[in-house]
Amino acid sequence: MRHFPLGRPARIAVMASGRGSNLEALLKAFPPDNPLGRIVLVISDRREALALQKALEAGVEAAYVPWSRRQGAAGRERFERLTEQLLMDRRIDLILLAGFMRLLSPEFVQAWEGRILNIHPSLLPQFPGLFAQRQALEAGVSETGCTVHFVDAGMDTGPIVLQRRVPVLPGDTVETLAERILEQEHLAYPEAVRKVLSGEV
Ligand code: GRF
Repeated sequence: MRHFPLGRPARIAVMASGRGSNLEALLKAFPPDNPLGRIVLVISDRREALALQKALEAGVEAAYVPWSRRQGAAGRERFERLTEQLLMDRRIDLILLAGFMRLLSPEFVQAWEGRILNIHPSLLPQFPGLFAQRQALEAGVSETGCTVHFVDAGMDTGPIVLQRRVPVLPGDTVETLAERILEQEHLAYPEAVRKVLSGEV
């Protein structure tokens, strides 16, 4: 089913667990006066996530929704129930996962099919999962990058919207490589969201 273009500014939610540098790039690209869409809600499963602070500094609603590991599936169900409620209340059109470090259930993801994106620091399908930059170094590839993709029930699978490439340089560490990829992430994510919202993909 085709969801975009909407013919009005999209209401966007970002879900993030950590420092929120992609969130910052998205907040800049989709401020309240962007006719394509605006970030109106940031959700985190971690109370101390910098992403929540960054949202508040930008004047955007920031919600901490707990996800208890100890409770297993019940912890995830509770998180997803509360999150769905928030997304409905705020009439969200598009979800952007930006460093959101949990795997959402197939039911949640299916309900948002075509309306939920993720960014990953590799050229998928290479190096899915955690520590993608380390995986790239260990594999000895000469090039890696980042991928923005629609989310499906798998881990870093789902149709690709766009990729940006970076070289792996001699002497690179996980940190230097991650930094080089991150610069491209900050360009790739807003560009991918523009493509999706304008109905190009
Ligand atoms: C990024 O490298 C992103 O690709 C990955 O998690 C990291 C999040 O960084 N999914 P930040 O919180 O956006 O700074």
